[in-house]
Amino acid sequence: MCGIFGIVVKEEQVLGGTLLEASRRLAYRGYDSVGCAVIDRAGRIDLRKDAGKIEEVNDRLNFADMAGVRGMAQLRWATFGAPSQPNAQPHLDSDGDLVGAHNGNIVNHVALREQFIASGFTVRGTNDGESCVHAVERYVDQGDSVVSSIRKAARDLEGDYAFVIARAGAESPDEALYAVKQGSGLVVGIGDGFCCVSSDLPSILPLTNQVVRVRDGEMVTLHHDRFEIRRVEDGAVVDRESELFTEGMDAAEKGGYEHFMLKEIHEQPKAAEDLLHWLSASPHVDPFVSSIEAARHIYFVGCGTSYNACVLGAALFNRLAMKPAVPVLAPVFRETFAHTLSSEDVVVLVSQSGETKDVLNALNSARGSGATILGILNVLGSTLMHASDHYLLLACGYEISVPATKTFLNQTLLFYYLADRLRRTGPGERWDDVPSRIEETIRRTDGFSQEVAALLKPFHEMYYLGYGLTLGMAMEGALKLKEVSYAHCEGMLSAEFKHGPLSAVYDGYPVLFITAPDDAKMMINHVNEVTCRGGRAIIVGREDDLLRKSAHDYLPLPAVSHELSAILAAVPLQLISYYMSVSKGHNPDFPRNLSKTLTVD
Ligand code: F6R
Repeated sequence: MCGIFGIVVKEEQVLGGTLLEASRRLAYRGYDSVGCAVIDRAGRIDLRKDAGKIEEVNDRLNFADMAGVRGMAQLRWATFGAPSQPNAQPHLDSDGDLVGAHNGNIVNHVALREQFIASGFTVRGTNDGESCVHAVERYVDQGDSVVSSIRKAARDLEGDYAFVIARAGAESPDEALYAVKQGSGLVVGIGDGFCCVSSDLPSILPLTNQVVRVRDGEMVTLHHDRFEIRRVEDGAVVDRESELFTEGMDAAEKGGYEHFMLKEIHEQPKAAEDLLHWLSASPHVDPFVSSIEAARHIYFVGCGTSYNACVLGAALFNRLAMKPAVPVLAPVFRETFAHTLSSEDVVVLVSQSGETKDVLNALNSARGSGATILGILNVLGSTLMHASDHYLLLACGYEISVPATKTFLNQTLLFYYLADRLRRTGPGERWDDVPSRIEETIRRTDGFSQEVAALLKPFHEMYYLGYGLTLGMAMEGALKLKEVSYAHCEGMLSAEFKHGPLSAVYDGYPVLFITAPDDAKMMINHVNEVTCRGGRAIIVGREDDLLRKSAHDYLPLPAVSHELSAILAAVPLQLISYYMSVSKGHNPDFPRNLSKTLTVD
């Protein structure tokens, strides 16, 4: 969801290719406009930008030939102002000697824009990123240095954002590039003869693996041969060492698969193995578990796929740990629960990216209550990680495809692992076998999933039903199908279906049931309620004679425990969505209108 990249080099050179490549690396975040700006040694700015996909806009504007010593690129996902040329970023200030671009939201942008217009500034668009540039311009015009102007501007800007800005113009030569972090991601890369800055690592790692993490409330000044971090509040210089990032970029390549989504589905056995290894060695686990154990009330909070994992997680906690946990959609949390929090409570925030604004809002509403904040996240260094009292990593590596797959499976495994540690009943899981069980599930269900995808393809709406542990899984399967196939699919409790939605069933109408072994008997009733009205029942679950006889189509899962069986169902549901998307000619990696990291309200 929006991304910025900036670079300063020693010698004047063609920077367009680097900016273009960085933009491509940021594209997984989702965007609808693209732009680049470079400044040459004489202080001239070359700015090219427009609404559209990177390759289309590049065909028109030819970013590749842009030359200079400083450059920046931005991908915009529209929130304030329609996707259009004036709203695309970077933006210029009134007289065209400041150029900058942002990521995130400036929530007081409308009021600021009115102030700038009233002050006679040239405001060209309606996008909040432009406010960042004018906010700096206001102080530069008063004679402040660029650093001081940026610090003052950052205090005027409300919201969660990061921005990059540079001053050009022959009269006041400046060779630096500046960036501020306040709530959105920002990483610096240090290379031989250049320094760069970006919203995240994939656009930096092809250039260098020497990185420096900027924290909220800090700004960084980049020269080709050095960087300086200082606090926005008091201007104090912060001493921070760079670190060597060792995870390779091959993680960001498709590795022979047609799409990242399919690759990431196939990476799940390895991701589970890495998670279990991390959990067995990490000092973070004990304090996390102890906090939950001691809690009066436990809330599992997330959005979208992460919320669906919370629903399954709460059922696992109730069943195994005998600890009730309340799954809550993050935007609901403040009004429904935050006012009654106390220091005896625990809020577990679940977010792959660790940057989802709705989740961070829930976090902020819990701050000050004394409740313990726990984070479950995939992105190291994310805002959620820093804001949590204790956190656990999903250990999935990069997840490039917009639909979450391996991070969802690891969220559910992590919940299961925690519930298993607190288990009051029954034998524990055979954790060493879990990665190979996932592998087996992929192998066994791939062909069936293609058949089910073909069967569902003609339908524009359908139901996925679950019961007990599989309710969250049904919701997730339905979300995944909607997301990548654009068909409507509702995921709900099978026992609720007869209370209204059953009227949708007609001859051949498809209803997919996800069942775990202990619930098979109950599920048979729900299946029959559909089939006796002509509906077509497709069942995903461990082999069961009675269930098989009740169903038209059966997608068998390996013979594993009740809990693991519910979790393994994720695999065929992901594959069905993937194959349906591809057969409809969509790109499952980048579904229309969606973005990987939702940093807006
Ligand atoms: C769907 C999907 C989204 C995210 C949601 C929360 O495949 O990925 O529903 O789960 O936007 O994102 P995170 O987990 O980053 O907070």
